[in-house]
Amino acid sequence: MPSVPDIRIQNNNQALAEAAAEFILEMGRETVRAKGRFFLALSGGTTPGTLYRVLASPAFINRFDWSRATFFFSDERCVAPNDPRSNYVLANNTLFAPLKISPAQVYRMAGESRDPQAAAHEYEQQLRRATNTSPSTRPTLDLVLLGLGEDGHTASLFPGSPALQDNQSLIAVTQSPKDPPTRLTMTLGAINRASVILFLVTGAGKAGIVRAILDPKTEAERQLPASLVAPEEGRLIWLLDRAAAAELPTHQQRTSA
Ligand code: 6PG
Repeated sequence: MPSVPDIRIQNNNQALAEAAAEFILEMGRETVRAKGRFFLALSGGTTPGTLYRVLASPAFINRFDWSRATFFFSDERCVAPNDPRSNYVLANNTLFAPLKISPAQVYRMAGESRDPQAAAHEYEQQLRRATNTSPSTRPTLDLVLLGLGEDGHTASLFPGSPALQDNQSLIAVTQSPKDPPTRLTMTLGAINRASVILFLVTGAGKAGIVRAILDPKTEAERQLPASLVAPEEGRLIWLLDRAAAAELPTHQQRTSA
């Protein structure tokens, strides 16, 4: 039974990043208490940058034992690991380095690979090994962070992408209409296994697509990649700022600020 999205609206980007940080730290502590380790996948794009900076800020930096975390990525651009367009570069500069995260805790997608398909396969193997998942089952990450593009894409799952029908692979190679064109991405099969999926979406430019995903009127809107994100057993949370939530119907506009 698809889970009803839990929509939380914050006044602005900074308040949203602080609410996301509070949520992640609390979930991290609970998960480590229960299982000893916290498996999370980071999203790309620009929106998570504020969150990563908040997590590494004096008010938050010592509130969780980050040595217990294992980091994955929900997608990566096929560029070198020092390319400013790389999702790894954003996370490394704003989170891993300030938190002194050991490289052994980070599973980076090899966006620089000359053979993206082989890199996708290799990352799938790493994901299974790191989470101790047998070949016949799919790993359950504790938390998957996602963003949302104005065309309804999430991770690097774009409208019309064949990877949306791929229910075999955990990691796929996709083509993006946005630069850089070639991407590595978690598939819906990997994302929808997560215990918690947390969307972070900010800005007036996203208000229309947020309405299309959370209050769909047409079959086309229900088939947008972000609309197909529905945890099989987990929770789905949408953290929005007021501008991104502006076109939602009143009953979905519940401010938690
Ligand atoms: C990527 C992302 C992508 C991103 C959205 C939103 O690598 O580009 O994973 O899905 O989350 O495009 O991007 P912004 O946060 O920059 O608006």
